[in-house]
Order: sequence, then structure tokens, then C-alpha cells
Amino acid sequence: MVSVTRAVFGDLPLGAGTVEKFQLQSDQLRVDIISWGCTITALEVKDRQGRASDVVLGFDELEGYLQKQPYFGAVVGRVANRIAKGTFMLDGKEYKLAINNGPNSLHGGVKGFDKVLWTPRVLSNGVEFSRVSPDGEEGYPGELKVWVTYTLDGGELVVNYRAQASQTTPVNLTNHSYFNLAGQGSPNIYDHEVTIEADAFLPVNEVLIPTGEIASVQGTAFDLRKPVELGKHLQEFHVNGFDHNFCLKGSKEKRFCARVYHAGSGRVLEVYTTQPGVQFYTGNFLDGTLKGKSGAVYPKHSGFCLETQSWPDAVNQFPPILPNKNFNSMKIKDCSLLYSKANSTWHTEGARALCQPVQDEYQMWVLSCHGYKKGVDLHTLYSLSCKCKQNFLCLLNSFFAPNPSSVFLSSHN
Ligand code: BGC
Repeated sequence: MVSVTRAVFGDLPLGAGTVEKFQLQSDQLRVDIISWGCTITALEVKDRQGRASDVVLGFDELEGYLQKQPYFGAVVGRVANRIAKGTFMLDGKEYKLAINNGPNSLHGGVKGFDKVLWTPRVLSNGVEFSRVSPDGEEGYPGELKVWVTYTLDGGELVVNYRAQASQTTPVNLTNHSYFNLAGQGSPNIYDHEVTIEADAFLPVNEVLIPTGEIASVQGTAFDLRKPVELGKHLQEFHVNGFDHNFCLKGSKEKRFCARVYHAGSGRVLEVYTTQPGVQFYTGNFLDGTLKGKSGAVYPKHSGFCLETQSWPDAVNQFPPILPNKNFNSMKIKDCSLLYSKANSTWHTEGARALCQPVQDEYQMWVLSCHGYKKGVDLHTLYSLSCKCKQNFLCLLNSFFAPNPSSVFLSSHN
């Protein structure tokens, strides 16, 4: 059973509208989402003792979300991540976007989807937000209608994105929640154990634009295919943190992407997606200056993001090499369709792109506490798991297994 309640969260300055908060509650999870930027402002989950904590960074009041802040909980778009120098060519025309991050355009530009009021609609188990991004917004071509839904089912929070474009445009939508499974306000995430299902990652230049290389993770700090404890791992490889796209294996099916396990509380976060990449960001630019919820401060590495996405700067460099497609030089249009694909089902017609608003389940967070049931031994669990789809397997693991990650891996032997 999921309950959905609706309340006023605050008023925008200059009579620009009222921001509402939607609270979704199941037995396992409580999530608060506001209509400003479709932002998740709270996500409460129990630890193994049954004590609930809020595991996402954010603010108590609307003012916090209106100030300059690093996209806490928001949906980012029209194109999440960076577009080099804020420019790209499409159908023979050069587009220039709003520049807001060094020389680049980041997360949709100066006024991205995180900084607008969306129109809400209550669903039986969640909430849908919609908006129309006008032609030319932040420099992007064509009008784009966008729908984002959050639905809750037990311990699963599902985020669906749909978009309908009036002309070819890059689209890349994600959610930018910062998690700390020990509870928001905890000083760091070093005791979190991270697994990312990626054989390759994208090295970046000094302004965080991919260099063009798709590098194997083998033997590098980026090999997170088996669980690593973050603090020790960063020390061992002398790295300052992650802010990189991990290349997920090529399939348009919803599949396992990442797992983060916090042994202290027993909380597990699992992410599934249909997207080709995930930006693993360890809050490297957090600097402790923001005043967060309940007086929390957020220093460097006090939260992590798993932003499922198309690869950064795809519009300029990656479409030709995305999975299972052969492109030739005149296929820029198709390229843009391909990296938009995870957001919706797109069809091409002549020189124009029609984007059909077909719902595509796209990103799912499974957040559970680690209340493992005595009496379920690993052998039973393993044979149970074999009968299930991988998704369900992971879910089972997170509920029952003493160490979800190792069981998950052993089940693949
Ligand atoms: C980017 C970071 C950026 C952060 C907040 C992440 O998605 O990869 O480089 O600092 O968002 O803006």
C-alpha cells in the first residue's frame, strides 16, 4: 500500500507560483518530492534495527533550493552533464547553448529543468510532473514536452522519463540526488561499499569533458565490478574522488547498474536503468558551506550521486560508437535520436525526428534496509535466485542476504 499526500512547500518570489510537496509512503520507504525541479527533498529508509533516517542531502525550506546549490535531488535537463563549449551541430546548423560551467554547458544551462516549476498530477502510487520546454530554451532546438513520474512500490522508487520533441534535439534526463546511506548529514561516504556494473569508463580532460577514449576499467581505480569500500579504495589509488561516466553494457533493457551497501546501517541502494551510462559522482565539489537539513553541513565526499544518463558530450562525440548501431557521417540526426532513446521511443521521418511519448521505464532505485531473515540459507537463496530474473534476484539479495554483494556475485559464477 502506498499513500500519496500533497501539501504546500513554499511560495516563489515575485508571485511566480506555489511549490507543492508530494509525500509517497510505503512500508519501506518515504519519499518527498517537490514541484520545483521535480526535486526529491527527503528519502527515508530504515536501518537493520528499524530506525528510519533520511538518506538524501537537501534543505528544510524552499529558499535552500532556490539559492545557488549543486542540484540536490533535482531532475536535470534538457541535457544532463556537459556539452563541450556549449555547442553542437545538428542538421547542418550550429547551436550555441547557455554556458554555465567553465567553458561548457552543464545540466541544461543557466536555467535548466531543475530551476523551473513543473505541473504536478497525483497518481494512485506516485506523482507525475510535466512541463513544456520552449523552442530555443537555453539554446536548445525545438519545443520539448517532458513528463517525469515517480512511483513507489514497497522498497522501489521508479522514475520514468518521457519526452516529445517538435524537432530533433538532444535529450538526456536524470535525477541528481546525493545519497548518504548512513543518514544525510553524516560526514562522509568512505564506509560505503560500491559496485558498478561497467567494464569501461570515459577518461576526461581538465574541464571534465570526455577525451574520446573509452578506457577499460581493468587494473584501474575505476574497476568497481566487485564491491570496494570507497575510502580505502580512494586512498589505495590516490584519487580525489569520482566524477566520471561509467559505460554500462549495451542493452536497452532495464538492467542492473550499481549497488551501494552501508554495512553500519545495513542499508542498500541498488540502481537499474535502461540508459547507456551512469555518472558516479562522489560530491567532490561539496565544500561544507551550504546549510542543509536539520543544521547539517555537507563537506567534500559527504554524498554520492548515481546519475543514469547518455554519455557526456554525446552530441559531439559519442553517437557513432554507441552500442549496436552503424552510423555514417550523414547520420547526425539518427545519432541524436539514439542517445535520446532511453527517454522515450523515437521514430525518424525524413529529415525530421518525431518523438513518440511512449513510456519507458528508465531508472529504478531500490532502497532497502538489510533486515535479513534468519532461516534462509545461502543455498536456498541461490536456487531461488536462479529461477528469478536478475532484477528480482538483486532485490531478494538485498532483503535476505548477509552480504548482498557477495551473494549477487556468487550467483553469477
Ligand atoms: C557533475 C559534477 C558537478 C555536479 C554538480 C555532476 O553531475 O558531474 O562535475 O560538479 O554534477 O554540479
